[in-house]
Amino acid sequence: MVGPLNHVGVAVPSIEKAAQTYRDLYDIADITEPSEMPTQGVRFCFVNLENSQIELIEPLGDNSPIEKFLEKNPKGGQHHVCFEVKDINKAKSEMERKGATVLNEPRIGAHGTLVIFIHPKDNNGVLIELMETPK
Ligand code: CO
Repeated sequence: MVGPLNHVGVAVPSIEKAAQTYRDLYDIADITEPSEMPTQGVRFCFVNLENSQIELIEPLGDNSPIEKFLEKNPKGGQHHVCFEVKDINKAKSEMERKGATVLNEPRIGAHGTLVIFIHPKDNNGVLIELMETPK
């Protein structure tokens, strides 16, 4: 059902500082400009690798869903893993059929396509994002 790994999400207190770490330590120059998704309470940018991406996410606004995560992990930490799927609605019903907890209705994610999140309790402690492959 799932296609390639699209990205690994990393929550950080400052995406500018985190991006600088990838520049300084790993010589990665290809890092996108930060963008905002106010409806989801995050600022984000992508660190582009040859075969995948790291998505840096920072809380935005008062009710950011990653605020709690950063309270537990003040320096930041690995937050989710994202796999591509062809059809998000199919993926959602398939996950539900298999008894997994889907955390949200499909909504537009950082790549501009629909995404859902699967509860960590179903994935050995890992929050998994499924995103529809961009056309
Ligand atoms: Co993501």
